Amino acid sequence: MRMYDIILKKREGGHLAPEEIRFVIEGYTKGEIPDYQMSAFLMAVFFRGMTDEETGVLTQAMAHSGDMVDLSEIQGVKVDKHSTGGVGDKTTLIVAPIAAACGCRVAKMSGRGLGHTGGTVDKMESIPGMRTSLSEKEFVEIVNRTGISVTGQSGNLAPADKKIYALRDVTATVESIPLIASSIMSKKLAAGSDCILLDVKAGNGAFMKTTADAVQLAKKMVAIGEQNGRKTAALITNMDYPLGNKIGNALEVQEAAATLRGMGPEDLTEVCLALAENMLFLAQKGTPAKCRAMAWDAICSGRALEKLAAMVEAQGGDPDYIFHPERFGEAPVKEDVAAPEEGYLQDMNTEGIGISAMMLGAGREKKEDAIDPLAGIVLCKKTGDYVKKGETLAVLYTSEESRLKDAEAKYFESVKIKGEKPKKEPLIYARVTKDGVEEKAD
Ligand code: URA
Repeated sequence: MRMYDIILKKREGGHLAPEEIRFVIEGYTKGEIPDYQMSAFLMAVFFRGMTDEETGVLTQAMAHSGDMVDLSEIQGVKVDKHSTGGVGDKTTLIVAPIAAACGCRVAKMSGRGLGHTGGTVDKMESIPGMRTSLSEKEFVEIVNRTGISVTGQSGNLAPADKKIYALRDVTATVESIPLIASSIMSKKLAAGSDCILLDVKAGNGAFMKTTADAVQLAKKMVAIGEQNGRKTAALITNMDYPLGNKIGNALEVQEAAATLRGMGPEDLTEVCLALAENMLFLAQKGTPAKCRAMAWDAICSGRALEKLAAMVEAQGGDPDYIFHPERFGEAPVKEDVAAPEEGYLQDMNTEGIGISAMMLGAGREKKEDAIDPLAGIVLCKKTGDYVKKGETLAVLYTSEESRLKDAEAKYFESVKIKGEKPKKEPLIYARVTKDGVEEKAD
């Protein structure tokens, strides 16, 4: 078999045989296939796509490229969730403790942020002492003891995805449905949970810009999960504006803690309740209405907040930061961004706002960049809100004054103020299961 022939076949729109796909993944993981050939292959897939069968084989090959985590030592139903990535998306820090407080076992591996999207691991690391690199043994022990652990992706979990994702990131081949589906699902299959809830973001801050594309992606991932014996469902959620009001690592932990005390922003609370309801439903905890009530009760009783604190403590962090998030303090440099005119906040370019937060130090431009845990943005107005000239639209935080000017310019470039009130978009567009697509009415 020759890599050249496989690239050519895909370039011409052909269907690859399972052994050809396995040859590519094994060869690339071992370093036998060079980056330039893999890049050409990825671009061919980007333009020609893959059948469901090809995507399924690709996912399996990537999942088996490294360790398959054994969670059999954990008693009870293991549930996992995964977001396709967005801005202000701190849902894992809220939904995972809710699910654990309702009797599920949450053994979750999360990633770091890159570019305009944030990552749960970076957010957790803003808590002093918090460890996000756990051995499999410790991970399993913490889940058995507290019901929940969120850790970074272990070194040898789906290494093919790690290599391929890094290459996609620099070859403009990220936004491909078969490549995203296989990337996410290979990690989810290798991570070993029984139930998988996917949060597929749609909008200008997501990889899938339209709901139609997000539904396509969700259908593929749900099918892959079910074919591999995992109960899988997806919610298609709005990423045309940031989720919640805080963007940045410590800022997002603060907002997650507030939401777990029942004092979070309305959009974030609603998305988290919907995700928690669906996780509990997959774990067969009852009807959707009962699962929703259980999730809300976990918040109102304080049990979910206690679960988050228990996980933080078990992973070496100071749980007092969860009960008293004001302990994080504020970044030394703070700037109010004033509305240049009066009107409705018409449109937010969510990716642009994520980049502005990154420019303040909340994210990395390059993998090796350090994160400023206190940097970020607090949004005072969001799409649909009315603002007076000079009123504060947002507050920017950073530890380095020199970062402010460009970040502020990026923020301004990303918001539009106009005379008429924009149409309210739904927060949750649809639910995708093995039985089909259920559109959600707002
Ligand atoms: N998240 C992933 O893990 N992989 C992708 O391809 C896109 C988002």
